[in-house]
Amino acid sequence: MREFVSHKAAQFKESVIREMSRVAAKHKAVNLAQGFPDFPAPPEIKDAACRAIMNNHNQYAITWGTKSLRDGIVAKTFRDYGVQLDPETNLTVCCGATEGMIASLMATVNPGEEVVVFEPFYENYGPDAILCGATPRFVSLNPPEFSFDRAELAAAFNEKTRAIIINSPNNPTGRVFSRSDLEFIAELCKKYDVLAITDEIYEHILYDGAEHIPLWTLPGMAERTIAVNSVSKTYSVTGWRIGFIMASAELTASIRKVHDFLTVGASAPLQEACAEAFAFPDSYYQELSDFYRERRDYLLQALTDVGFRCVRPGGAYYIMAEIEPFGWDDDVAFAFYLASEIGVATVPGSSFYRPGHPDAKKFIRFCFCKEMSTLQAAVEKLQRLKQK
Ligand SMILES: Cc1ncc(COP(=O)(O)O)c(C=O)c1O
Repeated sequence: MREFVSHKAAQFKESVIREMSRVAAKHKAVNLAQGFPDFPAPPEIKDAACRAIMNNHNQYAITWGTKSLRDGIVAKTFRDYGVQLDPETNLTVCCGATEGMIASLMATVNPGEEVVVFEPFYENYGPDAILCGATPRFVSLNPPEFSFDRAELAAAFNEKTRAIIINSPNNPTGRVFSRSDLEFIAELCKKYDVLAITDEIYEHILYDGAEHIPLWTLPGMAERTIAVNSVSKTYSVTGWRIGFIMASAELTASIRKVHDFLTVGASAPLQEACAEAFAFPDSYYQELSDFYRERRDYLLQALTDVGFRCVRPGGAYYIMAEIEPFGWDDDVAFAFYLASEIGVATVPGSSFYRPGHPDAKKFIRFCFCKEMSTLQAAVEKLQRLKQK
């Protein structure tokens, strides 16, 4: 028989993050691997979802999103950033930020073009670029701060560059890009006439006074930025698969076509429920950050006590921890050892790097969007590392 695996599919592997959740289940390990909460979603939106189903919102929604949700996103964006979007032309509701990113790239990037991606990267970006026939062009975020070298970034831009992907607050590093970082990126985008695609899924999970500055609020960037976002992390509903894309009317028209033929639309009743979440008061978002700060502080201290060298995250809900203090030099072997022998599942850092990157094997990633009791159970198991 012929080889039926496509050239594109042959270029990437199955997601390691999702695989580690299966490894956790197999070894009954505490799962600090995949980034999903193990606590209930807010009761208000669970009730709203049940109501929406009982009120017969069960057929296809408008392909680019129910009016109630688009209006909710517009109102919240105005409250948060003082920017007035048009719900008819600037928004596309889609199936999570996952679809948001691939639909945005497919709508704007051509085969043979390059997409700049910071490394370590959320693992979907590489395959997303490949699925568009584009070449990812990587620029390092360098530990311990996970900052980038400006000269290296500038050198990654050329006449083939079509887009740059920016994820801040960042998964896996916790880096929150500063205004000065973003101004530098914006200048490069304008100089080379390049599009910025921002993944802002952790916009409300910030610590130590860090501020999320959307790139599209910088001068001259609204027209050349596509902002991808989602309810997954902000409202603790990763399984609902509701995301949204904000862009100029021209870009939105192209994105909506791709989205329509990829998925037709996101879940209709859950969109109705999400519309209610967008009306939550400001205190909800403050409490969300406070809730995660308590967990970050606890896990950071506990991992440090056990002997890990950790990078303090300024946002999102992950900690990158160096494995070298334990005498290991292979993150995958160490992560499997932790899951099977110690009983804690993490994600090997190399899943956020290309093979061969000098930092690829140095880290494992812990996720702390969990009940305190889950984190305490993990920390108790990790004590065994001290005796090794
Ligand atoms: C940076 C980043 N983008 C996108 C996603 C996926 O988002 P969604 O659940 O909305 O598809 C994740 C999930 O962990 C993420 O960390």
